[in-house]
Amino acid sequence: MAKTITFTVQPGGSLNGQARVPGDKSISHRSIMLGSLADGVTHVKGFLEAEDALATLQAFKDMGVVIEGPKNGELTIHGVGKHGLKAPQKPLYLGNSGTSMRLLSGLLAGQAFDSVLTGDKSLSGRPMKRVTDPLAQMGAVIETTEKGTAPLHIIGQDGKLKGIDYQMPMASAQVKSCLLLAGMYAEGATRVTEPAPTRDHTERMLNGFSYPVEKEGAKVTITAEGRLTAADIDVPSDISSAAFFLVGASIAPGSDIVLNHVGINPTRTGVIDILRLMGADIEILNERIVGGEPVADLHVKSAPLKGIDIPEELVPLAIDEFPVLFVAAACAEGQTRLTGAEELRVKESDRIQVMADGLQILGIDAQPTPDGMIIQGGKIGSGSVESHGDHRIAMAFSIAGLRAGGKIVINDCENVNTSFPEFIEIAPSLGLKLQSEQG
Ligand code: S3P
Repeated sequence: MAKTITFTVQPGGSLNGQARVPGDKSISHRSIMLGSLADGVTHVKGFLEAEDALATLQAFKDMGVVIEGPKNGELTIHGVGKHGLKAPQKPLYLGNSGTSMRLLSGLLAGQAFDSVLTGDKSLSGRPMKRVTDPLAQMGAVIETTEKGTAPLHIIGQDGKLKGIDYQMPMASAQVKSCLLLAGMYAEGATRVTEPAPTRDHTERMLNGFSYPVEKEGAKVTITAEGRLTAADIDVPSDISSAAFFLVGASIAPGSDIVLNHVGINPTRTGVIDILRLMGADIEILNERIVGGEPVADLHVKSAPLKGIDIPEELVPLAIDEFPVLFVAAACAEGQTRLTGAEELRVKESDRIQVMADGLQILGIDAQPTPDGMIIQGGKIGSGSVESHGDHRIAMAFSIAGLRAGGKIVINDCENVNTSFPEFIEIAPSLGLKLQSEQG
């Protein structure tokens, strides 16, 4: 049996000081993928040394790519070129990481070899038809379970994929990126249109590696006519990890923090916009561009929050931050209503149900709806809540401790290691009364 980790948070306190949270998960995955397929050597700084990104790294090692590191967030990737990957000798195990599985399914569909993608229990329950259906239209041959879940058995269609014009039914950067990666191996153009803007790290990094990719409104187009030229990557801090402290400092009276070097790509900053609409005091300082991505230092002071109707257009731009935004809503005056967020039901856990259950245990009136939640701001009490192995749920309930009436115990927190292993050091260094115990 794998070890279980339980978090205990003592109530109260405030957040003060400065921190640099670890590297962006989405950009870290993509640095390995594109660095591996590039001609030449790619140096990466600020790489996220957490289980999800390390699963991608291991997968590319298993396909013959020589990667040195990570050491203090630094990697050297000896690119093998677009057609240089080798057949893996065993299934590629991707742990908890949806990004690894969905992006790799596209990349591997057009290779000269077959492959199998597997994952943990949570990943094996997540929908993969959203990628295998459009890939099948391109000519990919991928077998899933009857339910359309992993393991994925991919029969490589070397040179046989065809570009398609695809309107995505949901706003998903993973689906978009999957199809763009498949499009690098397809005959003709692959065009992907998104119903709402989603994170564009793949497109930006392809540009950084000199691979032609065209953007026209909501449509992105790629062809096989291109090669990737190695380029150095400086990964900014992950705004999705910073989000816990953006909320924590906002809700805990007497807080004043600076989070350094945070990625503020406009397709990721929904959390700042939503918190500001609720009344948060967040200042964006020292804006700069680092390796094609906007970066800034974020200064947050506590402020009284009020409930809002969250604008639906902000949902894809804050998609990973809702667990902790629900905690902000629980601490706000009045009602907060989220709609248009059914995607939250198919994340690492059903984040609508799991957060509503936990908030109710803590005494908050949180009503789940099919596509969101209605939360009445109130007094957070104490109790024992389940994270269901979902890293962001575990960290969100930890932050709730800052405004709790008593101790909060959070079960099943091992997967915090998938995205933010340093949470258990950084959060207490800022003032959260958090303890982690292994059982
Ligand atoms: C990601 C895209 C998002 C996000 C996930 C990372 C990415 O998923 O929730 O954590 O790196 O492309 P969807 O695109 O499926 O919404």
